[in-house]
Amino acid sequence: MAASPGKRNGNERAEMKYPWKVAWITGASGAICGEIARRLADQGVRVAATARPSERLEALAASSPNITAFPADVLDAAALKACAAKVEAELGPIDLALLGAGMYVPFDIRAIDAEGFRRTMALNVDGVLNGVAAALPAMLDRHAGHLAIMGSLFGYAGWPGNGGYGASKAAVINLAESLKLELRGSGVGLTLINPGFVDTPLNASYDPKKKLFVMSKERCARKILERLPKRPYEIAFPPQVALFLKTVRNLPRAVSFPLVRWFIKATGA
Ligand SMILES: NC(=O)c1ccc[n+]([C@@H]2O[C@H](COP(=O)([O-])OP(=O)(O)OC[C@H]3O[C@@H](n4cnc5c(N)ncnc54)[C@H](OP(=O)(O)O)[C@@H]3O)[C@@H](O)[C@H]2O)c1
Repeated sequence: MAASPGKRNGNERAEMKYPWKVAWITGASGAICGEIARRLADQGVRVAATARPSERLEALAASSPNITAFPADVLDAAALKACAAKVEAELGPIDLALLGAGMYVPFDIRAIDAEGFRRTMALNVDGVLNGVAAALPAMLDRHAGHLAIMGSLFGYAGWPGNGGYGASKAAVINLAESLKLELRGSGVGLTLINPGFVDTPLNASYDPKKKLFVMSKERCARKILERLPKRPYEIAFPPQVALFLKTVRNLPRAVSFPLVRWFIKATGA
C-alpha cells in the first residue's frame, strides 16, 4: 500500500527525534517491533511495517499515518527483496532496517521437535539474512544506512529448554560479528539487539517461574530506542542477565557448566 500524500505531509510536520526518515521493520506486527514501530511513527519516522498479511499488521498500519504495511514473508528471499525495493520506491531510501521477525519453540531432549527446530532456525537466521540481503545493497551504494538485528542474550550461552532458540540466536550473534567487521568504512552501521526475557506471546509456552528479570515490551522498546540512534555495535539488557550470560560464555566449560547448574538451582530459572 502506497503512502498517501496526507501521510507524507503529516510526517513532514512532525518533529524528528530520531536520525532516520524511513525505517523498515520486519516482525512489525509482533510485540516488541510493533511497539518500536509505534514509537518511531509517533516521532515522525515513516515506518514500513513488514510481517505476513494479517489483521494485526493492518491494525498497526491503521494506528498511525506514518505506518504503512508492506506485507511479506521473510522466508521468501525474492519476495523480501521486492518488498524492500517497494518500500524505497514508495517511501524513500531505507535509513534503518530493523530485522525483528523471530520465534521460539521449546526444546525437550526427550521428545525432540526436529521440525520446530528447523522452523526456528529458518525464521530466526534465514529470515534475518534475507532481510540483510534485501536492504544492504542499496545502503552500500549510498554509503549510508543502519542495519539492526534482533538477537537474544540466550544466544550467548546454552540453556536447558533452549536448544533451538539459543542455537538460532548464537548464529545471529556470529552473523552480526562477521557483518560488523566487513561493514567497516562502508558508511553502513550495524547494531545487534540482545534483550533478555520480554513478556510477549513469543515465549508464552516458557515456564513463567523460569523467566528471570522479565520486562515489558514497552520497557524493551524504550531501552532499544534510547541507544539505537548512536549506532552502537550491541544493545544488551537487562545488565544482570547480560553480565551473567556473557561471563558464562567466556569461562572455561569446566567452570561454566557447574555455574549454570548452580544458578538454575538457586534461582529456579
Ligand atoms: N520476547 C522475548 O523474550 C525476546 C527476547 C529477546 C529477543 N527477542 C526477539 O525479538 C524479536 C521479536 O520478538 P517478540 O517477542 O516481539 O515476538 P512476537 O510478538 O511473537 O512477534 C514475532 C513477529 O515475527 C513475525 N513473523 C513470524 N514469522 C514470519 C514470517 N515468516 N515472515 C514475516 N514475519 C514473520 C510475526 O508476524 P506474523 O506471524 O503475523 O507474520 C510477528 O510480527 C524476535 O526476533 C525475538 O527472537 C524476543
